[in-house]
Amino acid sequence: MDHQPTTSRTPWVVGITGASGTPYAAAVIRALLDGGEAVDLVVSRAARLTLLDETGQTFREAQWRTDVKAFIGRDAGDMVVWKENDFAAGPSSGSYPTGGMLVVPATTASVAGIAAGLSKDLIQRAADVTLKERRPLVLVLRETPLRRVTLRQMADLADEGATVLPASPAFYAGARDVQQLVDFVAGKALDAIGVPHTLYTRWTGELGAGRARTEALGA
Ligand SMILES: Cc1cc2nc3c(=O)[nH]c(=O)nc-3n(C[C@H](O)[C@H](O)[C@H](O)COP(=O)(O)O)c2cc1C
Repeated sequence: MDHQPTTSRTPWVVGITGASGTPYAAAVIRALLDGGEAVDLVVSRAARLTLLDETGQTFREAQWRTDVKAFIGRDAGDMVVWKENDFAAGPSSGSYPTGGMLVVPATTASVAGIAAGLSKDLIQRAADVTLKERRPLVLVLRETPLRRVTLRQMADLADEGATVLPASPAFYAGARDVQQLVDFVAGKALDAIGVPHTLYTRWTGELGAGRARTEALGA
């Protein structure tokens, strides 16, 4: 699909699975590209449904540059898109250079598949490769409440070095709208892979609005 990767590319693999929270994926991809990073994108079949449901956006492989631009609100830049069932794709192999991988949002199904090493699609296979090559893997899980089996799988994945990062926005950064809450989660995902960003205002511990509020409470 329109890919001519060069040997100098070291992209971040981004897998979008069919959990609620596709705006998190848009924010992560936008921030990676804004930061000059390359992205290899894989969208699961179920994710196309949630994408359409939540944003009104289609994801058609034949015109992915147009659809991605509409989804993330900027040019797709240095991006390669791979089909979810393409096991010959670059990210299927450990010899294909990547910085690591983010699954955002991550379904419980994808977490289960990755934890069990099923590799039932390219997202699960690429995550498997990322773990075996000891590269950073970030799983932005979106489900609540959680079954015991999912909690166990999350613990197993954390033991293996993955960052399990539930889509859990914080309000202390002074969010005024939904996009700021989305950007907070996206920013935490980028923190986990060490990519600089300005997606949220960091807590500094200095006397600012947050500190003044806690001191006023005598905390
Ligand atoms: C509108 C919609 C919302 C969904 N939200 C979630 C969710 O938040 N978390 C989740 O784990 N699964 C959710 N699902 C179910 C997954 O899409 C389903 O388990 C699917 O098989 C996951 O496949 P995938 O991991 O290959 O994308 C949702 C499904 C739909 C249609």
